[in-house]
Amino acid sequence: MEPCTIIILGATGDLSKRKLIPAVYRLLKDNYLDRCALVGLSLADGTAENMLEAARPFITDFDQGVWDRLRSYASYVQGDFHDIGMYARLAGTLTEVEKQHDLPGNRLLYLATMPEHFATLTKQLALHRIISRGSEAAGKGWQRVVYEKPFGHDGRSAEDINQAIRSVFDESQVYRIDHYLGKEVVSTITTLRCANMIFMPLWQREYIESVQIILNEKRGIEQRGRYYNSYGALKDMVQNHMLQLLALVAMEPPAKFEDQHIRDAKAQVLSKTNVVDVLLGQYDGYRDEAFIPKDSQTDTFAALKLSIDNDRWRGVPFYLKTGKNLYEYSASIHLKLKPVAHMADIAPGAQANSITLQIEPEEGFLLNLNTDVPGQPMQTTPITMQWSHKCVFGHNTPKSYERLLADAIRGDQSVFVRFDEIAHSWRIIDSIKSEERERHTYAQGGRGPKELEAFAETHDMEWYR
Ligand code: BG6
Repeated sequence: MEPCTIIILGATGDLSKRKLIPAVYRLLKDNYLDRCALVGLSLADGTAENMLEAARPFITDFDQGVWDRLRSYASYVQGDFHDIGMYARLAGTLTEVEKQHDLPGNRLLYLATMPEHFATLTKQLALHRIISRGSEAAGKGWQRVVYEKPFGHDGRSAEDINQAIRSVFDESQVYRIDHYLGKEVVSTITTLRCANMIFMPLWQREYIESVQIILNEKRGIEQRGRYYNSYGALKDMVQNHMLQLLALVAMEPPAKFEDQHIRDAKAQVLSKTNVVDVLLGQYDGYRDEAFIPKDSQTDTFAALKLSIDNDRWRGVPFYLKTGKNLYEYSASIHLKLKPVAHMADIAPGAQANSITLQIEPEEGFLLNLNTDVPGQPMQTTPITMQWSHKCVFGHNTPKSYERLLADAIRGDQSVFVRFDEIAHSWRIIDSIKSEERERHTYAQGGRGPKELEAFAETHDMEWYR
């Protein structure tokens, strides 16, 4: 990949230390990047060494040589996003490090900040020519900006941010990230559905009874109270990760496996997606966490029933469930097939087939079928056919942030999100937020609020996990 400067705004935050710096380390270790500079910017007093040390515990395959190289590439700028002088200092540091490491001026800026800073940062970065429209054409190297999710806090603010961005940058410079799209199984959903005759004809309302998308988290909000309390599960997980998964599962097969066709198909299906029912929860003890007000109404759990108003999916419920501090960490998608006609006569007790896409913690997919119990004709038993990603490809495939950073450096926007997809997703969340709803309390380490049972009963369904 071309040598470049990676600039992280919000370099001492949780995302930077857990994911971004380890991803840059892996890009060096795996020889995707051979020369770069890493410039971190944050409000905290500190040094490049402090910034890297904070990320050190999140690097699993530590190699002293690679770490030393990363240290030699790293710089740190302390500053406040509201201080105009900071942008001049950042511009000065960039010129210096690019000279020192003989870099051609290719710049990847990562805005690992709260979305309320996006518009101001964008304008200032452009004003101080840290990133300029058309830089590549002017022979100054490519310059791109990655915007972390959530993109805005509702449809209106997302629109404002997007306008601020588009007034100074070309769309080809803008990378709206959703790290779930960089996970292995997620990036193969389209291939699995559309390149396999065994699945392609099944993927529609005639054969599919319901779909579940589940992101259960064992983690709580950790040190992120300030951010989390303004967003909650609906805006932190559903608006982006879960609706992107829904879009990939439910979109029409794209005319070509190309970036614009896939984004068109995703935007189209999101525009037809509507809310049928909602259950929100908050874990017991949430209001005692750091930075959380004692009367907080933020949702840390959400269960939804959605419908898709098109010929492929009319009448097929899509259930989404996510929560913090639950009994397990798992991300999965389940497609429940309809029972075969006269199932009770042919195979009493047999269960409807299902297809499970497993995203976390293990990656793979499962096909649940029925067969006979050996020696007992007419008695069926469920069996599972399983494909495990790690058994076939091993552990060493790139992790999502590593892959997404590499794509952005290569200039491949296919797994980044276009603004119309974001706008449709916000319409769905805004419609939920426009009504007052109760937050049901649930115990930490459990399965969610007890009201989830009534939700399942009302909709005559059962959660897979
Ligand atoms: C992030 C959310 O986008 O995704 C976090 O802000 C959440 O709250 C995380 O914990 C889950 O991602 P993963 O890859 O750990 O499943």
